[in-house]
Order: sequence, then structure tokens, then C-alpha cells
Amino acid sequence: MSRLFSITLSAAIALGASAAAQAVDRGDPTRGAELAEAQCLQCHSADAIRGNREWPEIRGQYAEYLLQSLRDYKSGRRDNAIMRGQVEGLSLQDKRDLASWFSRQEGGLYTPRRP
Ligand code: HEC
Repeated sequence: MSRLFSITLSAAIALGASAAAQAVDRGDPTRGAELAEAQCLQCHSADAIRGNREWPEIRGQYAEYLLQSLRDYKSGRRDNAIMRGQVEGLSLQDKRDLASWFSRQEGGLYTPRRP
């Protein structure tokens, strides 16, 4: 592979990745914080997950992963009785807002930051 081609390819991949990251996080984290406080943090906060291995850590997870999970619980593609009940009343924008807020929180997960 020529050096120029390889540099161009790397730049294209980097641009594509950051465009994708922006495209997927179309949520409002301020609104997401309110929704999380009202509906999610009793199970997904630091205190809630301490010593409880049934409730996963989602703080700091990628927004698109969180959004996809919430959509999958709603569609039934991901089958979990607890989470199905949680997402039932959420609009797509609610899910985006929640994904946006949770992805910005510091938590116990290690997810490499995007450039
Ligand atoms: C009563 C406790 C409880 C509440 C409240 C709750 N969750 Fe969950 N959540 C769970 C459990 C249990 C799982 C694991 C389900 C599974 O095995 O798929 C889970 C899984 C998830 C996952 C997938 C995590 C992963 O690593 O794949 C996401 C995302 C999530 N919850 C988001 C939310 C959001 C957003 C809310 C608020 C709207 C919420 N949860 C409210 C208990 C809860």
C-alpha cells in the first residue's frame, strides 16, 4: 500500500468514526439526567450496582450501544422482563437522551475514548 494511500485511508476512517459518533448521539444529556433520576438510577447508579451483580454498569458505555440496547429491549430482540418494563413508555428521543447522559458519566467501565 502506498504511503499516501495509507494516510488518506486512515484519515477517512478517523473522519468516518467521528461522524458516526456524532450521528448516534443526538440526545440531550440534561433531559437524560432527569429521566435517569426518575426511572433508572435506583438500579444503574454506583450505589445500586455495588455488591449487586444483577444490575449492569452502564455509566460510560458508548451512547450508540446504550441506545441500541434500549431499542432491542423495546422490540423484544433482547428479551429481559425487567428492562422491557422500563423501556415501554420511552419515546425514541427519551432513549437518545438517556443514552447521551449515561455515556457521559464516569463509571467502572473502561471504554477507549474516541479521537
Ligand atoms: C429494577 C432495576 C432496573 C431499572 C429501574 C432499570 N434497569 Fe436497566 N437493567 C436492569 C437489569 C437487570 C439489566 C440486565 C438485563 C439483561 O440481562 O439483558 C439491565 C440492563 C440495561 C441495559 C443493557 C446494559 C448492557 O450492558 O448491555 C441498559 C442500556 C439499561 N439497562 C438501561 C436502563 C435505563 C436507561 C433505565 C431507565 C429508563 C433502566 N435501565 C432502568 C435493571 C434495571
